[in-house]
This record gives sequence, structure tokens and C-alpha cells, in this order.
Amino acid sequence: MRESDLTALVERHTRPGSPAVCPEIRTLEAEELVPIWEDAERIAGREVEPPFWAYSWPGSQALARHLLDHPEVVRARTVLDLGCGNGLAGLAAARAGAKRVLLNDIDPAALWMASRNARENGLRVDLSAGDLLGAEPPVPPVEVVLAGDLFYARAMSGRVEPWVRAAAALGAMVLVGDPGRAYLPRSGLRLLASYEVPVPPEIESVAARRAAVLILE
Ligand SMILES: C[S@@+](CC[C@H](N)C(=O)[O-])C[C@H]1O[C@@H](n2cnc3c(N)ncnc32)[C@H](O)[C@@H]1O
Repeated sequence: MRESDLTALVERHTRPGSPAVCPEIRTLEAEELVPIWEDAERIAGREVEPPFWAYSWPGSQALARHLLDHPEVVRARTVLDLGCGNGLAGLAAARAGAKRVLLNDIDPAALWMASRNARENGLRVDLSAGDLLGAEPPVPPVEVVLAGDLFYARAMSGRVEPWVRAAAALGAMVLVGDPGRAYLPRSGLRLLASYEVPVPPEIESVAARRAAVLILE
């Protein structure tokens, strides 16, 4: 999608604000996903991926809150925000003092949004386009992998889990942010923190979700 189309979409369907539990970071947020998705398909004239990038998912909100409260976790480290969506978790890592932050997503619109959010917050990040999950994790140089709200579907979880386990086996710290999605791995995760995250009922069907930060062990 052209940049002018993305700009029009966010102007029509998002509002500037901050994720509910991260007032330090400014983002553009949609309260609903269906209208922006329908508009995106109308503009593109074909089916497009859901605009996951138009909303800070509770998993990344929890990760971001945790990193802002515990900057030592990422300070002076190289961080990969895998499936970054709007980039919130990676932006929090940058703000917390990470040496380098790589934002990765297969959706070019997500990287556009994440880059726009980074600019809005005066934060420097690098963008990584494409699917990293088909190859060995880039560890080193990546020292911390952030996986915010990536266990929402069986197929996605089936690809993300072995990849993040491989990253951990190669020495990376893997932090997962998850609000109780159905396909979160059942073992090998230790709870570090959890946060009550107010969410738009139109997207999550509830008014708040308890989102956990877990470390892969
Ligand atoms: C539910 S969203 C979560 C976004 C963000 N982490 C957050 O919590 O706000 C899932 C994201 O994973 C991305 N994604 C799906 N498959 C991917 C893959 N193979 N590699 C990288 N990103 C992927 C989607 O494009 C989407 O942005």
C-alpha cells in the first residue's frame, strides 16, 4: 500500500494517544479493527492482512511497561522486537537505553507505522522486513528477543515457539508478553510480572485483560 494510503487510513481510523499502561510513549491507536481493515481492502482493491499495526496489543503493552520499569533488562543490549506490529515493545526498549533495536514484521504497513511511532517519540530504531522464522535466529548479535502477543493462532504459535526456543538456546534472553492467548506454550516460561491492561471491547470483547511478561527458560 502506498504511503499516502496508509496516512489516509491512520487519519481516518486512529487517534493520537498512549497505550493504556505506557503513558510515556505516544502512539496512534484504533479503537476498532474492522472499519480500518475494510477501508484498507477498499483502498487496495483486494484482500489485505488485518491491520494488527493499528493497535498496541496487550502483550506488548505489558512488555513495554516491564522494560520501562526495569531498564537494566535491555540497557546497552541489542534487542529484536519480533512481529513488532506498531513497534511499542521495541520503542520501550529504545527508551530504556537499548544499544540497538531491530523492529521486525512481515507486514510492510506495520513497519511503516512502527517507524512513524518511533519518529513521534524521537527514538532511533532499525527496521527488519520479512519473515525471520524460516531461518536460524540472528543470535548473536541479538541479545534480547521480545515476542509481544504472538501466540494468538495455532499456526503462528507453531512457528514462533521453536524459533524463540532456538534463540534462547543460542543465548538470547526471550521475553514473551501475553494476555492469556490460547496458543501460549504451556511449559518453559517463568512469570516475571503481570499488568491489568484496559483494552477496547470492540477488539478484545472485554474491557481489560491481565497481560503477563514471561521469560523463556
Ligand atoms: C497480534 S500482532 C502483535 C503485534 C505487536 N507485537 C503487539 O503486541 O502490539 C501480531 C504481529 O505479528 C506479525 N507477524 C505475523 N507473522 C509474522 C512473521 N512470520 N514474522 C514477523 N512478524 C509476523 C503480524 O504482521 C502482526 O504485526
